[in-house]
Amino acid sequence: MAYRVFFEEAINPFCLLDGEGRVVDWNHKAEKVFGFSRQEVVGKLDPTFPDAQTYHDFLQEVKEKGKTVRTFTLLTRDGKELDIEVTAVYRNGEYFLMKRDLTPQRYAYLEKMKALGELAAGIAHQLNSPLNAILLITEVMEADLQDHPSLEDLKMIRRQALHMKSVIEKILNYVRVHEVKEPCCLALIARDIADLYRKSLDQHRIVFHIESSGPDPCADCTFIGDRSGIEQVIMNLVSNAVDAMPEGGKIEIRCGREGDHVVLRVKDEGVGIPPENLRRIFQPFFTTKGSKGTGLGLAIVERIVENHGGRIEVHSEVGEGTEFVVRFPLHQEANHD
Ligand SMILES: Nc1ncnc2c1ncn2[C@@H]1O[C@H](COP(=O)(O)OP(=O)(O)OP(=O)(O)O)[C@@H](O)[C@H]1O
Ligand SMILES: [Mg+2]
Repeated sequence: MAYRVFFEEAINPFCLLDGEGRVVDWNHKAEKVFGFSRQEVVGKLDPTFPDAQTYHDFLQEVKEKGKTVRTFTLLTRDGKELDIEVTAVYRNGEYFLMKRDLTPQRYAYLEKMKALGELAAGIAHQLNSPLNAILLITEVMEADLQDHPSLEDLKMIRRQALHMKSVIEKILNYVRVHEVKEPCCLALIARDIADLYRKSLDQHRIVFHIESSGPDPCADCTFIGDRSGIEQVIMNLVSNAVDAMPEGGKIEIRCGREGDHVVLRVKDEGVGIPPENLRRIFQPFFTTKGSKGTGLGLAIVERIVENHGGRIEVHSEVGEGTEFVVRFPLHQEANHD
């Protein structure tokens, strides 16, 4: 049968599931990429999904929409994590899944980003000294020219120069790698940040809710890492959540242990991210905020998370809100840089 040949010879892993999510068929490529043989998986739930809840929620979504494309971190038989794009279709009571391994592209992308980041940092570094000189001189001039007609123009120059300085600092932050060392409790760091921003959050009519799970909350959301980096991760995610809710709303932060990972979830009820932007939000300089954003926030977040051997995912519905999920391994194999 032509379908059978196509299914078996396909260059991507394919699998067919029944209405309950149990595997009916599993091609050669799926055996090769994930290490599970066909006999092993037929009749069982797809074993590559990290947990039953994620699997169930995904299939539910596919059933409702008919077709869905999502990226997951899936597991091989020997526990290796792979970035996989899953295209799923629901027809006549069956699910058809095509999985595409994004790991090679991801490495190539990270290498490219690293090189680009270093180039940007080099330029930023060169711009830093003349900019500092401009700031210093304009500050002195402002004091000298108090009643001068050009004072407003001068103030404008200074404001623009300050904006440039904040962009340069972000670029330098993007490439700066801190040594990873002290215990970081996600719940405590989130609380400190909330306290720091309490006034501004109140002004924006933002309600902040922090929750840590487990019998010993601090122990369950603590891992060894770079505290200032983790602060930046939470700060950037929170500041994006605030921007996404111009009319105010609730930001929920949940921290806890899931297997051998410490997991941070930052959820808002904001405008959401359109599907066509989801792939681009982690790219340096991608912003929808015009001159108010640099587009470096999430690029910095992703880099810090990866330097901790962690992963970041995003789930978003336009008009409903967005959730970022960050997983940090409890025990790191090696510093990734
Ligand atoms: N919680 C969110 N809700 C809706 N959109 C978001 C959210 N987080 C990020 N985005 C989108 O992703 C884009 C990139 O975010 P990123 O933090 O990298 O840059 P930015 O917020 O635009 O600028 P900066 O962080 O420098 O202020 C944002 O411009 C926005 O379109
Ligand atoms: Mg941001």
